[in-house]
Amino acid sequence: DTNRIAVVGSNMMDLITYIDRMPGRGETLEAPDFAMGFGGKGANQAVAAARLGSSVSMVTCVGDDAFGPQVRQNLETNGIDTRHVRIVGGAASGVAPIFVEPDGENAILIVKGANSALAPADIDAAADTLRQASAILLQLEVELETVYHAVAFGAREGIPTILNPAPARRDLDVGRLAGLDWFCPNESELALLSGLPTATDAEVVEAARSLIAGGIRNVVVTLGGRGARLITATTVQEIAPVAVTPVDTTGAGDAFIGSFAHFCGAGLEPAKALIQAARYAALSITRRGTQSSYANAEEFADFTARQLNV
Ligand code: RIB
Ligand code: NA
Repeated sequence: DTNRIAVVGSNMMDLITYIDRMPGRGETLEAPDFAMGFGGKGANQAVAAARLGSSVSMVTCVGDDAFGPQVRQNLETNGIDTRHVRIVGGAASGVAPIFVEPDGENAILIVKGANSALAPADIDAAADTLRQASAILLQLEVELETVYHAVAFGAREGIPTILNPAPARRDLDVGRLAGLDWFCPNESELALLSGLPTATDAEVVEAARSLIAGGIRNVVVTLGGRGARLITATTVQEIAPVAVTPVDTTGAGDAFIGSFAHFCGAGLEPAKALIQAARYAALSITRRGTQSSYANAEEFADFTARQLNV
């Protein structure tokens, strides 16, 4: 039987400009290239899991503008169940102007639009779908009350929840995440949310354990070039980094989280799922765009085989 994943979160239209450098204030600069693509952390994670073969359903809000139907259609094209995509009257769809520099690094603005309307009631309306999921995936591009409600739903119903606290938000109350199964920040998000330093490996573990003491079960911290760590109350496992030449890092974090949910749901042990997720994210960095850079199962298998042969 297929692994079912539910994503409760955002969608955006990514407006990606490839630049030589950021313009200064008041400066007009010519940029070499532009591409529009489907993005948003929630939708990205949903698409990554779906391309790898999970059966995914998405709870999200779109505007009643020209982008809304395109966003919904894109989810359907990726085989994602859109029964719980709600159109918000009078609202604009979420958009994300993104700037990508020649070294692949990016700067992103998000204009959430209809995503701000995703409410606890949307979770209740999708309860039957969420109950069938092997995991509920969450990010921070929607109202925090909605995130807390989903975590509480998962804890009450026994459905594992995975929260990627991105983008970083100081106002996230980690005290309301008790019962969360997987908390997956990067090192700066971990520092912000724990209020502790994360410069060294020992500090990362201590910061993660402070959250575990508050009722979060497992913490996965991504450390950029130093890979990732899987931290529980009693164990620490190192996930090695995967070296590739970056082309466009946009959406790599979402590739990591979405594929982690897929590999866990497919039955891999968490540490093994994270090794695969790190490879999946690395592959996305070698390609342009956000969802456009996410491999399907076959492309990923090819990449993994090549990686193991070098
Ligand atoms: O994580 C990458 C995503 O962040 C982009 O797709 C953009 O839409 C913003 O949500
Ligand atoms: Na990419």
